[in-house]
Amino acid sequence: MAVKLFTPLEVGGITLPNRIGISPMCQYSADDGSMTEWHHVHLGHLAYSGAGVMILEATHVTREGRITHGCSGLYSDRNEAALANVIARCRRLGKNPIGLQIGHAGRKASSQVPWEGREWLRPDQSPWQTVAPSAIPYASGWHTPRALETAEIRALVDAFVSSAERAKRIGFDWLELHSAHGYLLHQFLSPLSNRRKDAYGEDRMKFPREVAQAVREVWPRERALGARITANDWAEGGLGPHDAVAYARELERIGLDYVCVSSGGLVGHANLNVGPGYQVPFAEKVKQHTKLKVQAVGMIVDPQQAQDIIASESADMVALARGFLDNPRWVWHAAERLGVALDYPPQYARSRHDQWPGAKIARGGN
Ligand SMILES: Cc1cc2nc3c(=O)[nH]c(=O)nc-3n(C[C@H](O)[C@H](O)[C@H](O)COP(=O)(O)O)c2cc1C
Repeated sequence: MAVKLFTPLEVGGITLPNRIGISPMCQYSADDGSMTEWHHVHLGHLAYSGAGVMILEATHVTREGRITHGCSGLYSDRNEAALANVIARCRRLGKNPIGLQIGHAGRKASSQVPWEGREWLRPDQSPWQTVAPSAIPYASGWHTPRALETAEIRALVDAFVSSAERAKRIGFDWLELHSAHGYLLHQFLSPLSNRRKDAYGEDRMKFPREVAQAVREVWPRERALGARITANDWAEGGLGPHDAVAYARELERIGLDYVCVSSGGLVGHANLNVGPGYQVPFAEKVKQHTKLKVQAVGMIVDPQQAQDIIASESADMVALARGFLDNPRWVWHAAERLGVALDYPPQYARSRHDQWPGAKIARGGN
């Protein structure tokens, strides 16, 4: 019987060769939004990992929308040229689809990179004014954002479209709108961060909907378009799984192809209940209520666990983040564990354990 984790999946107009995605991961290594040598190596090496889709890190639609000084952006010709260069190299190394996540950090912008503290930028670290639906900081001590004017909100819709057009020119197969983890689109969705009295507060989906609609108009149907959504703010009065269903349905109506169901990140006092596959039930709930393709993410580490999620139809695909940082050969090892024959790049064919002469080497966990 086919191992479902390794069966193809159509998402929008593209076909993933298997159900395993590399989850977007900020590298905090860009120069004014432009990807650098680090990205060439990091992504080049994941391009031949065998993952069904590799989704590049949160890439910001404006300079002020970056989380940190090191975050990637797609707001200038220089950013576009650098990213096009990285993708051209990845295409020479691997043939599987490549995606990009675009977003805006809102009140979580102007932050330190993780290895410098992961907090707000201090006065001597070149902070900048952050913006959000309402002037409410992420947590105590964080910058108080300025509430966006209506005209600025419209300009941000245009910024999303402009970055999507750049991504289209570069040739990405897949585009993901980041509306989770407490960034700007999520800040509009949640009652904890959106206290506006205007139309963007009365209808908290209005801004994300306008972004999704505008991007849908420019993003080709023969590629894939989706969003990372949140299913739990893990805080009193915040969003829950039923809100994720309502938002996913709206995105389905607009014509998106998939959602990745995540949670958390909206408020500093969130109380997350993290464990293996802890967000899978949220993905399953969304899958039961929409026809969108659904990706599960979060603490999915073991190949059998991933296979069980897909075989039980809790989700159509899985995404792994830290698992791939830890082991870029995760897909090869998973195939071996689950008894699936996979082509390796010929240069690395001799690393297959059944090719090692004289010994049957059992792979341990991944
Ligand atoms: C280094 C790192 C960077 C991340 N950057 C992003 C990002 O750019 N966009 C995003 O949606 N999630 C980001 N995440 C979250 C992951 O995509 C993923 O949802 C989360 O780590 C849970 O999956 P895991 O348990 O497989 O690591 C990041 C996670 C890590 C570890």
